[in-house]
Amino acid sequence: MRSYAQSIALYERTKKSLAGGVSSNVRYAATPVPLFFVRGEGARLYDVDGNVHIDYVLGNGPAILGHAPQPVIDAVARSLADGQVFAAQTPRETELSERLVRLLPGAEVVRFATSGTEAVLMAMRLARAFTGRDKILKFEGHYHGWSDQAYISARPPLNEAGPADAPVPVAGSPGMPASVLGDTVVCGWNDLDLLRQALERHKGEIAGVLMEPMMVNGGAAPPEPGYLEGARDLCREHGALFLCDEVITGFRLGLKGAQHRFGVTADLAIYAKAVAAGFPLALVAGRRDVMNTLLDKGVMHGGTYNGNVQSMSAALAALDVLQADDGAVYRDLERRGTRLMQGLAELAARHKVPARVQGAPAIFQVHFTAGPAPRNYRDAVACDRDRALAFHRLLQEEGIRVNQQAKFFLSTAHDDAIIDETLAAADKVMAQL
Ligand SMILES: Cc1ncc(COP(=O)(O)O)c(C=O)c1O
Repeated sequence: MRSYAQSIALYERTKKSLAGGVSSNVRYAATPVPLFFVRGEGARLYDVDGNVHIDYVLGNGPAILGHAPQPVIDAVARSLADGQVFAAQTPRETELSERLVRLLPGAEVVRFATSGTEAVLMAMRLARAFTGRDKILKFEGHYHGWSDQAYISARPPLNEAGPADAPVPVAGSPGMPASVLGDTVVCGWNDLDLLRQALERHKGEIAGVLMEPMMVNGGAAPPEPGYLEGARDLCREHGALFLCDEVITGFRLGLKGAQHRFGVTADLAIYAKAVAAGFPLALVAGRRDVMNTLLDKGVMHGGTYNGNVQSMSAALAALDVLQADDGAVYRDLERRGTRLMQGLAELAARHKVPARVQGAPAIFQVHFTAGPAPRNYRDAVACDRDRALAFHRLLQEEGIRVNQQAKFFLSTAHDDAIIDETLAAADKVMAQL
């Protein structure tokens, strides 16, 4: 058994000064307590007890180049002496915005923010200002940050969530005013009939349809063929903006994200996480006419740290690596991720553990189910969560860190030897499941 004595002691101590002992509630979901890490390098994390973890959590997505990627830390180190925040522009913003506009699908212009939560808020405000409508349609199981406006039906208990064909919006936290629910329409994902019906029920009211273009947070599930195109077309028909939250999928499902992978273009897309390889940066990218309401209509968006020198430098350096040789790193990432997905599926089958490995090679989930692979949130919550938790716990004992839902984020630092090591550990774990 690995010892976590130092993490446990530090957690107890920290709780006395840091509310709940953590800086994000997401971090409670850890075994046996929120662990304390002293260092990360490449695919590995080192905790205060001296345990080494091959990390498939990767900060929940940002560390696309692994931990402490040399080109990024070098660039940030060089930038430090230039200062941090000016409450003004810096040429690095010009350079980064130009590169992103050249690269990203549908990105006529971009605007920088600091976290995904804020960038989603900006996109929702832009959609409302542009269309003159108040309601946002979102999908059950899709997470768009923790704001009052967006943390709705992200992981609703099914006894509160209403019928699958017309879910009711469920506030995700105490302290959220009930009024926000009135401006939110919730729909089941991956089903065009449900979306059509919801848009008909709220004809002329929906400013934007917001989704994770591949569901990750509510259970990894790709869009069914034709779904994203159909959703985009329904948005057009109803005068609603099509809003893709690529906070996880951007720079992960490929250099140009989920939109390019699945062949659609959103009116506005939101990126964060992998774009700056671990530094805080988010952005909204999209149609010039919509984005220009920031200037023309005085739509407010602010943020002290937006465009800060270090985040700009990190993203520019990360892009150099990610864009090199037309995205060569993604070809390796796809190959290794596919090998890991297939290897895990084969191990599950060999050990007679009913499981479906689903998602994309750089972010996927092991769903423990004897049924078909989940296609939406309700399917995903019907899977065996206790088994996922046991898988997480047992893998951690073998030095492999996945989250409690058995999700795997891959980085370019997860080389073939690491995949082999992971599969050897998973072999032992599947035998115990
Ligand atoms: C799809 C999606 N959107 C938005 C967010 C919020 O981003 P942040 O945590 O940077 O505020 C997340 C965070 O996990 C996310 O996964």
